[in-house]
Amino acid sequence: MDFPKIDESISHPIEIFSQWFNYAKENLSLLEPTAATLATVDSDGQPSCRVILIKEFSPEGFVFYTNYDSPKAQDIQNNKNIALLFYYDLGRQIRIQGTAKKVSDTISDKYFHSRPRASQIASSASLQSQPLNAYEDFSKRVSELESKYPDKIPRPENWGGYIIEPSRFEFWVRGEHRIHDRVVYQKKGDNWSKTRLYP
Ligand SMILES: Cc1cc2nc3c(=O)[nH]c(=O)nc-3n(C[C@H](O)[C@H](O)[C@H](O)COP(=O)(O)O)c2cc1C
Repeated sequence: MDFPKIDESISHPIEIFSQWFNYAKENLSLLEPTAATLATVDSDGQPSCRVILIKEFSPEGFVFYTNYDSPKAQDIQNNKNIALLFYYDLGRQIRIQGTAKKVSDTISDKYFHSRPRASQIASSASLQSQPLNAYEDFSKRVSELESKYPDKIPRPENWGGYIIEPSRFEFWVRGEHRIHDRVVYQKKGDNWSKTRLYP
């Protein structure tokens, strides 16, 4: 399978995303195939980006999980506009813009309890992005939670998912002699308009 040009006969951009994502997963030895870069903006207008893992995607959007007290969550609380970037070392880039909102508690609970026990403990023990004076402080919090919850671990209220609802996708694919191809899908009501751009 090859993608010399972007097939803009496809009407929903999530289909192109899905093809490229699956192609990358099959053709690259990726440790974290679902990794993406999420950009948010803080209340001073300062952008920042970090890698997160996309746990689900559909025409409705892209779901990731995090700590609701973290800086990224505070940014989203203040400004729901985000950008998401996937880059695959196959000459392919997917830029997404949209808005983020929390998923329901039911969805977060279901995902939290599908994770291995150790991951549940680690997310519960982490005060994500707060200063950690000594590494042992973290291990201590982990041990305490292990003893406190010998069976089921409750999902912390400050941990859960967001869904990124996309309004714009841009697909970029490397072409020979730098004749690259770029196509933008912009959401207009329930439909998507398509525009090819100079690279
Ligand atoms: C491969 C990889 C995957 C990551 N996945 C997540 C994730 O799914 N959720 C998350 O909160 N942080 C994840 N992180 C950590 C974030 O990049 C970041 O350090 C953390 O969320 C704190 O970000 P913040 O201070 O901007 O809120 C991941 C980091 C890497 C390198």
